[in-house]
Amino acid sequence: MDARNGIGGTLAGLDLRAEIDRLRTERNAVILAHYYQKPEIQDLADFVGDSLDLSRKAAETDADVIAFCGVRFMADTAKILSPDKIVVLPDMDAGCSLEDSCPPDQFKAFREAHPDHIALTYINCSTEVKALSDVIVTSSSAEKILSQYPPEQKIIFGPDKNLGGYLVRKTGREMLLWPGVCIVHEAFSETELLKLKAQHPGAPVAAHPECPAVILDHADYVGSTSGILAYAADFAGDTLIVATEPHIIHQMEKSLPNKNFIGAPGADGNCNCNICPYMALNTLEKLYVALRDLEPRIEIEEGLRLRAKKSLDAMLSMASATVGMGDLGPVRVTGD
Ligand code: 13P
Ligand code: SF4
Repeated sequence: MDARNGIGGTLAGLDLRAEIDRLRTERNAVILAHYYQKPEIQDLADFVGDSLDLSRKAAETDADVIAFCGVRFMADTAKILSPDKIVVLPDMDAGCSLEDSCPPDQFKAFREAHPDHIALTYINCSTEVKALSDVIVTSSSAEKILSQYPPEQKIIFGPDKNLGGYLVRKTGREMLLWPGVCIVHEAFSETELLKLKAQHPGAPVAAHPECPAVILDHADYVGSTSGILAYAADFAGDTLIVATEPHIIHQMEKSLPNKNFIGAPGADGNCNCNICPYMALNTLEKLYVALRDLEPRIEIEEGLRLRAKKSLDAMLSMASATVGMGDLGPVRVTGD
């Protein structure tokens, strides 16, 4: 039992869903959830989305409290964009391996070693690294934002070398890549994926660009979580292999009950190793306590927040801009 949070016996007998509903109204709170959250959290959220959608919602909301069911960098982003709101994250240990792979002092030194480069940085990073960046991107906006820089502009891309490598291959633009990875998407096995494809001939593979190239090479579609959901709604056929965190399949099964969605396997032949251990820290119990106590709360020093906000504002404006080539939308690999 977590005595500090009052989680355990003291919550026994509570109807958590009803209590969360009551507190949501009393607190004028909005519950935002990422697609990688447990189904019971996705189902009671006011809004479920990808990183870009969630940032937009956080920037726009008129709620007094944002209960962020996702990971720390997402809740930090909400606070950076909506400083007057109370932002709570059910479990403050909900981090991200990409954020951990990019310590701000090392990133700063890397930038200083390449003064003629701008830093185009994946949103999966700390507030300090955002403050050291020129523009933030998400997986659904990266290519569109990249296309708005002239070809001669030198670029550092961090911290995800897989997303960066995918963008380099897709656009033909050289970028200096920071060597970070997502432990979840790194865990997919090419050998097991090929076995699964052989068992389901003709079933397409939809993959998140955080996967390494050996997995993306077998994908029929590559895109963000929202892009993968759009592809799932559209693809011809009845079975789709999904190479991203498996909790996203909950949304597919809800909206497309007649289709079959299979999580891509890890080296052990199943997809359990691809559950994000950070996202999984959030539970209904912790969400209830966060709404009840308005803790744990995100706080960011104002100078740091304002520096980080510049690169996020650049992302929000460039992601919505009308560019010459139109809104690229989800990135499609085959047929290019
Ligand atoms: P999306 O922006 O595609 O939702 O990705 C977030 C993430 O953390 C993927 O691992
Ligand atoms: Fe970070 Fe990977 Fe988890 Fe996304 S899935 S939050 S990138 S560790």
